[in-house]
Amino acid sequence: MQNTAGSTTVKHQYASWIELSRDHLLANLETIRARSGTPDVLAVIKANAYGHGLREIAQILEGKVKFFGVATLKEGLSLKEHFPKTSVFLFGHLLPHEIPVAVGSNITMSVSSFAQARAISDCAESLERKASVHLKIDTGMGRMGFRADEAVREIMKIRLLQGLLLDGIYMHFPTAEVEDLFRTKQIQKFQSLLEELDRNGIAFRFRHAQNSAASLTLKNPFLNIVRPGLALYGIHPDPSLRDTVKLAPVLELKSRITFIKRIESGETAGYGRTFTASSTTNLAILPLGYSHGYPWSAWKNAQVLYRGNRYPLAGKISMDYLTVNLGRQEAAEGDIVTLIGKDQDERISAEDVAQWAGSIPYEIVTQLNANLPRVVA
Ligand SMILES: Cc1ncc(COP(=O)(O)O)c(C=O)c1O
Repeated sequence: MQNTAGSTTVKHQYASWIELSRDHLLANLETIRARSGTPDVLAVIKANAYGHGLREIAQILEGKVKFFGVATLKEGLSLKEHFPKTSVFLFGHLLPHEIPVAVGSNITMSVSSFAQARAISDCAESLERKASVHLKIDTGMGRMGFRADEAVREIMKIRLLQGLLLDGIYMHFPTAEVEDLFRTKQIQKFQSLLEELDRNGIAFRFRHAQNSAASLTLKNPFLNIVRPGLALYGIHPDPSLRDTVKLAPVLELKSRITFIKRIESGETAGYGRTFTASSTTNLAILPLGYSHGYPWSAWKNAQVLYRGNRYPLAGKISMDYLTVNLGRQEAAEGDIVTLIGKDQDERISAEDVAQWAGSIPYEIVTQLNANLPRVVA
């Protein structure tokens, strides 16, 4: 039985699992700081830390970043409970009944409308405290946020609300990786808004715009905290950045062969009988399927690594299993197969899996089931 994967010796007996590299995560954090010239970081760890594991990633980053950024109140409360030293920033729009809980837990909230600001302020006043908020400005994303041309008027009203601490202001790029006129204009709009607010005596402690792609390609003295997600995890937000920025993948996805099946020429395997053996073939069944988050749509193109070599799948991916076509290669039950990660000189990235699945790396990692064990190395 092969109890090694690449150069790593594996000490546990999980059937399928995720390995996380602390060193790679911290190296990526430093790369982002160096490229943006901005030491302060709001680490985007929403969606279960992009599928990597909220607790595991927060544990590594605690004390090293200014904020943890999440999308849901549930994630925010979990972080507050387990990592009380780090501020939590909530991107998501709260439902009315969620506001008292968020205010009571000292979660920093995103505000996109006057009505929302007033509801948060009223709640904070009734609890005899101030709620920290960051105002979101829509400079071209066309999603949440105050329209840039209405923002000054709205913010002048918001500043009169007694329950709020206006601690931050931010915007988002829809095409952050493209260094074009649209991106420049977005920054200009944001900058002139900040200048106008400043002339009216309104200044914000935190001013942010840069997601991963912009953190890696844009330096701007008006902005003083970056907001990266994907690049922290060592995945390039766009293929165009692969040649210019070196990132270290944080996650590996591995599984142990649970069963070996030898089939003969002409026999078929899997749902839909899409695979037919052309000669005697060894099939390795892995206890990992689309219910664990491995994308079903990758079945025709996907490859995995075994003993430093690439192998294709045999047929469609099942809910709990996938089948590897090992050809004539012998293997033993319990041997380790790498689905994302490195094995000897070969490597499969989340970007590769995304390409095979007709998807994007964001979706590949965020779909990885929270029940898969996470092992931090
Ligand atoms: C508002 C906002 N900021 C930052 C991020 C992080 O983006 P990325 O993962 O591309 O760095 C996201 C991601 O969805 C976002 O919605």
